[in-house]
Amino acid sequence: MPQEIKGFSKLSKEEKIEWLTKTCFQNRNSAKKILTQYWNSDSTLQKLHDEFSENTISNYYLPFAVAPNFLINDKVYTVPMAIEESSVVAAASNGAKFWMKNGGFKSEVINNEKIGQVHFLFHRNKKILLKYFDYVKPYLIENTKEITKKMESRGGGINGIELIDKTTELNSYYQIFVTFNTVDAMGANFINSCLEEIAKTFYKSVLNFENDELKQKDIEIIMSILSNYVPKCLVKSSVSCSVSKLNKLEPETKNFAKKIVKAIEIANIDIHRAVTHNKGIMNGVDAVAIATGNDFRAIEAGAHAYASEGRYKSLSKAYIKNDIFYFELKLPLAIGTVGGVTNLHPLVKLALEILDNPNSKELMNIIASVGLAQNFGALRSLVTSGIQKGHMKMHLTNLLNKHNASEKEKEIALIYFKDKLVTSSNVENFIKKIR
Ligand code: MEV
Repeated sequence: MPQEIKGFSKLSKEEKIEWLTKTCFQNRNSAKKILTQYWNSDSTLQKLHDEFSENTISNYYLPFAVAPNFLINDKVYTVPMAIEESSVVAAASNGAKFWMKNGGFKSEVINNEKIGQVHFLFHRNKKILLKYFDYVKPYLIENTKEITKKMESRGGGINGIELIDKTTELNSYYQIFVTFNTVDAMGANFINSCLEEIAKTFYKSVLNFENDELKQKDIEIIMSILSNYVPKCLVKSSVSCSVSKLNKLEPETKNFAKKIVKAIEIANIDIHRAVTHNKGIMNGVDAVAIATGNDFRAIEAGAHAYASEGRYKSLSKAYIKNDIFYFELKLPLAIGTVGGVTNLHPLVKLALEILDNPNSKELMNIIASVGLAQNFGALRSLVTSGIQKGHMKMHLTNLLNKHNASEKEKEIALIYFKDKLVTSSNVENFIKKIR
């Protein structure tokens, strides 16, 4: 069991590994070998990655793949995706191929407003607070000018500042609710810096407010932070084609189009299905977010909160009208194409270049379209052959690798399993038999 260690972050990388391997492993050498095996031979590049985080001891690889043939708003994209789940990129590519022949994805950014809040307690009469807020509001904006200057020159900045009374839900609790336009940046650091300055000004300016009724001790700032719930940072991607064309894609399945519509109706009334349904969408969304250096945890949190407005439902919609099948995905996406690691991580820079260096709105359109393609791919499998057929086919190589299969064995296995069920035990038996 690890023991407490003091000053760990001050140790060198080698010392950290030394301590870790001594403390957590029986076979220290093998652990050390694995950790150092993943170091980049280019020490400058390795240092760059080490410095992204504290206590970095190695690199964690994810496959960096591309899904070609995404026709989005009449432009063809090859989309970079970073994900370990074997069937995700294949499903996205298949979906993209089908929809490319059927008009492609039409996507639009509905709005792109970000949100931040200063949470505080006010222990006096609300009338005084309202008076004070009127007085202080111009200073709240004025004092952030140093921070917002650059963002304003790019067309962004603070959109609005409001006082919100939450005292009916929590005693003495108010918010300064701030909305932002962060243009092509996700803007987390920008928003948080503005909020902290706003909180400071809000507290400090009491001293200049010529009203004896208000004292600094009446205000208790609790915290200042952006919100990852961004229901006004929305994108909608959609596809459509005739029902007969869609049904031809899966000729052995009766009423394929109607089954997809039904699958979404099920997700809309059953939370167990809805969460899995949306997870499939997020397979695509996260993979592009990671490849392009975006904060997928923020996207996940925001998307699921959006899906649960009212009650938790499917993020996608499907319906048939006049024999046309319509399929769409609307979701909040707070992402950026500048700032963060976007201009630092060489693979992220490369990913953005593969996408022809999109601005944040274009990237929102791309991510939403990949999410929709992913959902289409999952539903297509689910309502026809079942998910395992394709999934396990893609997973076959992983299972073979688990048994250290040689290239020759893999070749034989790929032929053998062409028309057979891939399961963990079938692969194990197969390997035993051929050895
Ligand atoms: C697996 O990663 C994703 C699916 O479960 C999504 C779904 O069920 O819609 C296949």
